[in-house]
Amino acid sequence: MADTLNNNFQNVTSQVLADLGPVLTGERDLHHTATAALQVVMSAANASTGALFRFQEKPAMLASIAASGFTMFPQTAVFPLLPKHIHAMIHATGAQRLCKERCDIFLSSTGNISSAWFRCIAPLRVRGKLVGALLLGERHGGANYSSELLAQIGHLTPYIGLAIYNHQLMSSLEERTTENLRLIASVHSFWDDALAAFAATIDVKHVHMHGHSIRVGRYAAGIAEAMGMNVAEVTEMRAAGYLHDIGKVTVDKHIFTNPGALAPAEFQEMADHTVLGHRIVSQVHFPWPSIGAVVRSHHERADGSGYPDRLRSDDLSVPVKIIAVADTFDAMLSDRSYRKGRTLGEAATELSWLAPAKLDADCVHALLVQLRRDAVRQMGPDRAWPKTSPDERTRKPFLDSSIACHISPTDIDHFVSELNRRVNHGRAYSA
Ligand SMILES: [Fe+2]
Repeated sequence: MADTLNNNFQNVTSQVLADLGPVLTGERDLHHTATAALQVVMSAANASTGALFRFQEKPAMLASIAASGFTMFPQTAVFPLLPKHIHAMIHATGAQRLCKERCDIFLSSTGNISSAWFRCIAPLRVRGKLVGALLLGERHGGANYSSELLAQIGHLTPYIGLAIYNHQLMSSLEERTTENLRLIASVHSFWDDALAAFAATIDVKHVHMHGHSIRVGRYAAGIAEAMGMNVAEVTEMRAAGYLHDIGKVTVDKHIFTNPGALAPAEFQEMADHTVLGHRIVSQVHFPWPSIGAVVRSHHERADGSGYPDRLRSDDLSVPVKIIAVADTFDAMLSDRSYRKGRTLGEAATELSWLAPAKLDADCVHALLVQLRRDAVRQMGPDRAWPKTSPDERTRKPFLDSSIACHISPTDIDHFVSELNRRVNHGRAYSA
């Protein structure tokens, strides 16, 4: 009997972990997964009712996030907690039996449900801090919660606690990010500097990301300028570059340091930065209409192979296409945990190969125009042909100062003619 219970519970542990996996690795629908996890624990414990609560600090209470088996249950059930209840839950060893006499140790009687509905409580803790509680009701057939069963339930609770903790962490990061953006939005005169400072905070996740958003803003502005956009549009593209990866604030840090290929769940969490970032910027009123689309769609590709919506070239706006090119260009030049950064020549070659199937050819062309201007300037005023104008000589370089422009204008002309040839299907002139 004990062996059956053990085997049963080992299976359940794996089952609960499998159900909690999406939450632990980035799934944001806590209620859905909490309900699934609760049901498998209940079925393994043979409990007829159960509820999962999360701990809220101010005011101190347990608030339900999932419940099952009850004929009537409030939308959110709460147990206000006194310091003695919190203390008892922090120091309890594993799951505990609840009975009339013991209820008051862990739960108050001032909630909108009765503690008498439950026969077992398993406090959920992460690094010694209370994050919630799992409460189970009567077992089918009126059986008791044996010590062995309580110990097995206790083995599951760290995983459920971690899922709740991760979710709360992500929610508070999202709220803080939105609030910071709103603050910046309220001080219009400092947009550019404030956004640049904000962009730097997006990139603190990993050393390989440092400066990425600032550089993408810089390259996007350069591409926009070479495409003939006006000053306001160029400013908009710089801001869009600064903010394009804002959703990464909630991506788990360890994913950026993973030296190998990402597991499917990790890839999904990384890909979700587009959707989550979109959710954040949708709550802020920007003076630029393209920000939302850029944040959501900068990983879409012209042939529909991108994410999150598998949009194709015709569905993508010019700002989205510009950021996709600027982002790809900077990613190519940067070191990653799994590869060294490309040289400038390699990046320019690869970019022109990616157009028009993946990236927009006009945007790539505009980037090459800007690179050529840097390359000409690099030659010095005496060797450059045609002669550079005084304006051109004082112009800010396109490339970030960390990247040497060791590429000749002739090389870039070659990339441009290759690009044109491919876009025009091998014809020098199209009729
Ligand atoms: Fe991104």
